[in-house]
Parts: sequence; C-alpha cells; structure tokens
Amino acid sequence: MQDKLIIFDTTLRDGEQSPGAAMTKEEKLRIARQLEKLGVDIIEAGFAAASPGDFDAIHSIAGIIKESIVCSLARASENDVRRAGEAIKPARKGRIHTFIATSPIHMENKLRMTPDQVVERAVQAVKWAKEYTDDVEFSAEDAVRSEMDFLVRVFDAVIQAGAKTINVPDTVGYSIPALWGERIKQLIERVPNSDKVIWSTHCHNDLGMAVANSLAAVMNGARQVECTINGLGERAGNASLEEIVMAVKTRKDIFTCDSRVDTTQIVPTSKLVSSITGYPVQPNKAIVGANAFAHESGIHQDGVLKHRETYEIMRAEDVGWNANKLTLGKLSGRNAFRTRLKELGIELDSEDALNAAFARFKELADKKSEIFDEDLQALVSDEIVSEAGENYKLVYLNVCSQTGETPHARITVLDNSVERSAEADGGGPVDASFKAVERIAESGAELLLYSVNNITTGTDAQGEVTVRLSKGGRIVNGQGADTDIVIASAKAYLNALNKLHSKLERAHPQV
Ligand code: KIV
Ligand code: ZN
Repeated sequence: MQDKLIIFDTTLRDGEQSPGAAMTKEEKLRIARQLEKLGVDIIEAGFAAASPGDFDAIHSIAGIIKESIVCSLARASENDVRRAGEAIKPARKGRIHTFIATSPIHMENKLRMTPDQVVERAVQAVKWAKEYTDDVEFSAEDAVRSEMDFLVRVFDAVIQAGAKTINVPDTVGYSIPALWGERIKQLIERVPNSDKVIWSTHCHNDLGMAVANSLAAVMNGARQVECTINGLGERAGNASLEEIVMAVKTRKDIFTCDSRVDTTQIVPTSKLVSSITGYPVQPNKAIVGANAFAHESGIHQDGVLKHRETYEIMRAEDVGWNANKLTLGKLSGRNAFRTRLKELGIELDSEDALNAAFARFKELADKKSEIFDEDLQALVSDEIVSEAGENYKLVYLNVCSQTGETPHARITVLDNSVERSAEADGGGPVDASFKAVERIAESGAELLLYSVNNITTGTDAQGEVTVRLSKGGRIVNGQGADTDIVIASAKAYLNALNKLHSKLERAHPQV
C-alpha cells in the first residue's frame, strides 16, 4: 500500500512573492481553477492580511474551488489569523497556515522576542485559527537555522494546541539533502504525538537544492510537500511541483508514496502560470522546458526510435506535452468558442466580454491558420486585462524599420478615453515604440526586462512579450501577445504601465 503524498501548491502565495509576479484577482482565479484541475490537494491562495485585494482574491477562490483545500497564510498575530479565517469562510474545505520564526537570528533581530514569547505566540495563533477551522497548519520559519531542541519544544506545544500539519521550512535555501532528511527524521522521532500530524516540508532554491531537499524529507517521513509551478517564488524560488510529482511517480521503486496529481495537466498549468506572471520557463528546465523531451544527438535519436526507453525515463504525453489540441479555426462559431473556453476553465463574466474575445479570435484566425489552446489563453488574458479597466490601451501603431534607416514609430493610445499620439526614433522597432509610448505616458519607469517567447510553434505563432518595469520601489510585469511581436511589445509595455498605475499596495508576510 502506498502512502499519499499531499501536494500543497503555493504558487499564488510564495510564487507571487517573486518580483513583479503580483497577480490580479481574475488571474488568480484562473490559476486556481487550473490547479484544481491538476489535482493539487491544497491551494495556498494568498496572504489575507496583505491587502484588501489579496483578501478578496482568497475569498473568491474559496467560493469556487470544490475539490482542493483553500488555504490562507497568516503571521502569528490575531489580526492576521482572523483575516485568514474570514477569507477562507466560503471554502468547502478551508485551512489556515500560521507561522512564526524560530531561529535565533530571526527571533533576536526580526521579531525581538524571547524563545518563551515565541512559543506562547505560536500556541495562541493556533488557538485563534481553530476558532475558524479544524485544519490548521503551523510553520516554524527558518527551521533550517533553528535549534533542534527548540523546534521540538515549539512543535510539541502547537500540536497540543491543535495543529494538524507541521511544516518545516528551509526558508533561506541553506540545507543539503542528507542534512534535511536527517532533520525531518529526528523531528518525527523526538516530537511527542508526531504520528498524529502530517509532516510537511517547504524548501527554497537558493543553492539549487529545493527539490532534492524536499525529496529527502519525503524519504524520511514527510507526507506533504509545499511547492510551486515552475519553481516560482522568492529569490531563487521554491521547490518545483512538476519535478517533485514526476520524481515520485517515476521512481516508484524508491518512494513509498504517490500524489493524486493528473500529470497530463502539468504542461498546460506551467504555460498558464508562465504567461500570467511573465516568468518564462527556461528551455532546459526539467519536465516543462521546451527541450525537456527533445533529443538532439544522432545517437540519442537513433536509440529513441529503436526503443523509446533507451533515453527516455518519462513519456512527454504523460506530463501534457502535445496535449495542445488544434482547437478552432476560421470557421468556428461563437458556441464552439464559448465551449472550448469553458473546457479550459475560463469564464468571462459578461456577454460583452465574450463578444469582444470572440471578435479578437476571428481577427487572430485571419492571421493564423491553426489556433491552439495556448492562443486562446493568451487572447483571453488580454481580454481580462481590458475588463479590469485600463488607463492605456493601444489604438494604432505604425513602425518603419529598414536597412540603413533609423527605425521610427508612430503610436496612438487611448489614455483614459482620450486618444493621444506620439512619434519617436529608436535603436530598433521595439525601442522606437517604447520611446513613443513614453512620450505620452512620461512614466519615467526603468525597464528591467524585455523578453519574447513564441506561444506555439511556426513563424505565424503569436509572440508573447514580457516587460518588467520598476518605479518608486515597485516592480511590475506586463504581458502582451500578438502575431506581430512589435505590437505585442507595445501592448506589454502599456500593460505594465497600467499595473504601475493600479497602485496595488501589499504587505509582505516575512517583513
Ligand atoms: O519560506 C518560508 O519560510 C515561508 C513560510 C511562510 C512557510 O514561506
Ligand atoms: Zn517560502
């Protein structure tokens, strides 16, 4: 009999702590629906006390998700825990995840609390949380640098107070697999009533060992892993969900547990998260990178053709590659369009939004003969952005770029319902377009990143552009998609400016 490995996805919370990855409520709802389809056990939907926007997103996710548990993070303070409790109220299954730091360096310098005060607060936080739900998780932040005896004391106290899951985080990505596995093993041996709770691990990737450390924890008794799609997260990120799930599934010979994840949904989920957050997936990334199943050398190709398993330990189709069905074409009608969106878990909340998206679909179908699910995702992302209300919207763009001439852009933008135009020269067509936009917006924002990815294959594929801007300490990512990458770039720049304008202020849980 195999144990169950509980998959706790924190893409919408820890993942969202990546610079510029802040998501709107609509974007979070789309990812939450897809995570449910993927079959994750717990969706950490956010940190309710961070902002009214975060609270609202968690509350809405709790209202629509039926299969997965919906969780909110809360620092060990009464206000945080009560906000989390209110946010998860509509959930069929809700969890509060409360935490406090337990390492000497954090207790002395950040919390300015004594160890006794930390234990008392941790217990109190669990008790507040129990007023809202029986499903309470406790985390000892920076457990990696905490003293073993103190961890045992804190965990014993919170289990007595009613915590059902005990999470052991390597907050700073400092451990190595042998040590992390040993730490989990010792905790399970030493903490009284350890068999009454689920042991969990949460590893960061600062030394590139988040997945290896998480798996070492699993081999030593952890039965919940906290992870994110594409390994998104603070600094170097969290353990990547797809790698954990596929490692456990592929090496059934050494793991005595398995998850209930529908692995064929892994690639579609990875693409959705990448397109919404603007964090591209590196081509050689395990499982979800574009080259993860590509055999370049002749010897490998020959081997795979003769017998697939000579060089492949997993099947591309099992993780959702090639799942992108040819969806719709030029002649498809509104009903087929609506039905496919529904199957993709996309719900536009008004007939007007559906009509506008359908009009854009027809425009796209004129330019591109085959339309795939990824094209629809990108198209609808644009539509949701428009629905959310924009300051700036692209009306017209004309760019001249020819050998021996300075590229020149002329642009018209709807600026809060007023059409404004500008022109500029640039080093290239994209540079000229951005300069023309800046003549109108005068944002003074600094461009931190510009990247282009093709959504599907072929030269008629849509280009998906990410633009990362920084201003006044805030960092935002803007996205735009179009078969013309200069237009996609201008849309991405305007989308980033719109996000800068939205003045979304949020608290950070660990500050
Ligand atoms: O990295 C960390 O310690 C966390 C906790 C809040 C679990 O994200
Ligand atoms: Zn974390």
